[in-house]
Amino acid sequence: MSQYNFTFSEVMTKKTKPYGKDLAFGRYFTDHMFVMEYHHQKGWYDGKIIPHQPLTLDPASMIFHYGQTVFEGLKAYATKDGEIQLFRPEENIARLNRSNERMCIPQIDPDLALAAIKELVRIEKDWIPKQEGTSLYIRPFIIATEPYLGVAPAKQYKFIIILSPVGAYYKEGINPVKIAVETEYIRAIKGGTGEVKTAGNYAGSLIAQQKSAAKGYTQVLWLDALERKYIEEVGSMNVFFKIDGEVITPELNGSILPGVTRKSVIQLLKHWNEPVTERKISIDEVITAHKEGRLEEAFGAGTAAVISPIGELVCEDNKLVINNGKTGETARKLYDTLTGIQYGELPDPFNWIN
Ligand code: COI
Repeated sequence: MSQYNFTFSEVMTKKTKPYGKDLAFGRYFTDHMFVMEYHHQKGWYDGKIIPHQPLTLDPASMIFHYGQTVFEGLKAYATKDGEIQLFRPEENIARLNRSNERMCIPQIDPDLALAAIKELVRIEKDWIPKQEGTSLYIRPFIIATEPYLGVAPAKQYKFIIILSPVGAYYKEGINPVKIAVETEYIRAIKGGTGEVKTAGNYAGSLIAQQKSAAKGYTQVLWLDALERKYIEEVGSMNVFFKIDGEVITPELNGSILPGVTRKSVIQLLKHWNEPVTERKISIDEVITAHKEGRLEEAFGAGTAAVISPIGELVCEDNKLVINNGKTGETARKLYDTLTGIQYGELPDPFNWIN
């Protein structure tokens, strides 16, 4: 039990767990969820763990109209010895509060948020799937619940945590995906909301994803909004390119989400004394490097997919097949090391596990 003493109402009938099924991503939910209320005169109060259930909300709740909401995504893993491991949860909680600040949502006590995540995961530990590549995805989120149609920060919110046993985010898993460079739509611009985790960023990206899917691509590569020249993200992940032995990722510029996996990849490469640089990288630089045979690898990095190699990158008339469409050695080593630490099969030199 945590020091916060969240009330616990146990579900009457537990669901059948989706053992043996292809879990894919985000389709199944556990028996319980965490809910806490906020009222501007009371602050955050009444944290409780209750059966996972639909919410009853006034249709005037501000979340439905102006999208005042933030979310996070992190994972719990089961080790061979039955221990529960969370990967860098403090990073997600810190980012949740940065998102809160940007979206005018009240801050949450980081210790309370961590205690709520841990308590819920402890109660649901039998839901952590054991097959290779699976984990329990943790989705904390906050919604504005005040019934009011004025455009202003809400005075009432709910902080909710739900859990979902998941497998691979992309059906390709660690196998390379095909990506199309998006030349029409943009994801974010400095001063906007792209560097925080709020629903509108994702809703606004759907049309590009839909368009690229219709042409047989898994996701899009986002370019900067001003010059349509510099690379920002891939799908909902950060992106890395290996050119001439150097790993390059777009520097955080106010429109890129500071990913926890991104940060971990950079730390690991530095730890291995492998060249890694955060800087602007243009699509032209990538195309030229490919033409000259210097583009060795490209991959996305995010919590959901961990590492997702890019096997083919299409930009208008240029079709770049990267590393013969195969998973590169850096992507593979990063994937094996990150997942090795996450599942407790490798030492954790950075104290990432909590
Ligand atoms: C991640 O890579 O973890 C994401 O942000 C994807 C998530 C929105 C499903």
